[in-house]
Amino acid sequence: MTETGETGETGGTTGESRVNDEVWVVGATGRVGRGVTARLAARGLTVVPVGRSRERMAAAGTAAGLPRGAKVVVADSAERIADEIVQGRPRVVVNTMGAFAATAPVIARACMPGGHYVDQANDVVAVDRLLALHDEAVAAGSTLVTGAGFGVLATEAVVAKLCEGRPVPHRVRVDAVGSVAVEAGVLGAALAASIVDALTAGGRRYENGRLVSSRLGADRRRLAFPDGESATSAGVASGELLAAHAVSGAPFVTAASALVPTGAPIRALLPLLGRLLSVPALRRLAVARLGRAPVKAAPRPREHSWGHAVVEWADGTRRAGWLRAGDGMDFTADVTATVTELLVRGLGRPGAWTPAAALGADLATTAGGTFVLD
Ligand SMILES: NC(=O)c1ccc[n+]([C@@H]2O[C@H](COP(=O)([O-])OP(=O)(O)OC[C@H]3O[C@@H](n4cnc5c(N)ncnc54)[C@H](OP(=O)(O)O)[C@@H]3O)[C@@H](O)[C@H]2O)c1
Repeated sequence: MTETGETGETGGTTGESRVNDEVWVVGATGRVGRGVTARLAARGLTVVPVGRSRERMAAAGTAAGLPRGAKVVVADSAERIADEIVQGRPRVVVNTMGAFAATAPVIARACMPGGHYVDQANDVVAVDRLLALHDEAVAAGSTLVTGAGFGVLATEAVVAKLCEGRPVPHRVRVDAVGSVAVEAGVLGAALAASIVDALTAGGRRYENGRLVSSRLGADRRRLAFPDGESATSAGVASGELLAAHAVSGAPFVTAASALVPTGAPIRALLPLLGRLLSVPALRRLAVARLGRAPVKAAPRPREHSWGHAVVEWADGTRRAGWLRAGDGMDFTADVTATVTELLVRGLGRPGAWTPAAALGADLATTAGGTFVLD
């Protein structure tokens, strides 16, 4: 159900000639969606909020600085949003609605041919499914970018920097330590689904070039940040793992996150919890309950969010580096807005990519991060 505003058909290539100048933000009332909508509106782009309620989309648009009465699109599922995209032909669709393993392929396919797609997925299944659309995207002249947030980019960009101009390394480890201020309210279904999916996926790592199962919470490590603070991270199956493997080509890769509980009792329970939550009815219940869980406002626990990578070569050479960012949510909105603007300007290569693979490692600094390299 679209409320029509003014659109102009533009573009150069065959695919692009079928799209207009609009950027649609799916989930514009959400935390990432609000940040992205405001940043894109401030950059003068034609932003269209997309979501379940006309009133809330209009209010989100106005709060983000869009003109009163600006176009909104009302749709309440990935499939209905896809139908609207096929009709409306926006140049870029930003998907912040979450549950990316299910929603990303549906929405990304609707953008083709010629339209581009961006999301913030960071789980193995969702990132893998989106990257599987590579050949379709190349044929369609569309650029699809997944993991456009603190996770994946904060670690992928460091690996890319450390590997620049060097032979393929033997081993890579990445660690993501986001620092995020909590907003008062409820946790939200999108974040709840991400947490439950991480628990059910268990752990993964690359061994001899093969993606294999490992224990969620394995490879625990204490990290000392360049600013003197510290945190503990542990292994998780993440989009960061896939990106670190793809960007380095290393046969042995592990990825860890400070979000994984590292206390001994809870770590021991994680496999059982994961198996329970794999039962569809229990998963739905857990996502619904967790999504409604009240959360209190809290400042971010550390000044910086950190992406970390250690790269080792067969000859014993070892390099380590960091990406320093501020609040992880703000950085995520900055990354998505930066990727989106570059895609609007036609700077993405056709295909399905993680962010640094699509647009280069310096995307992380354009989005406000700082490299601290050996
Ligand atoms: N990669 C990273 O570093 C990173 C960082 C932050 C977040 N994320 C991920 O990004 C996603 C969004 O996070 P968030 O904190 O912004 O979530 P959120 O605040 O819950 O926002 C989700 C948005 O999607 C909308 N939505 C949900 N289901 C919908 C449906 N069926 N139809 C239409 N709209 C729907 C919601 O609309 P309503 O208002 O109608 O509910 C809301 O606007 C999550 O998956 C999160 O895990 C990734």
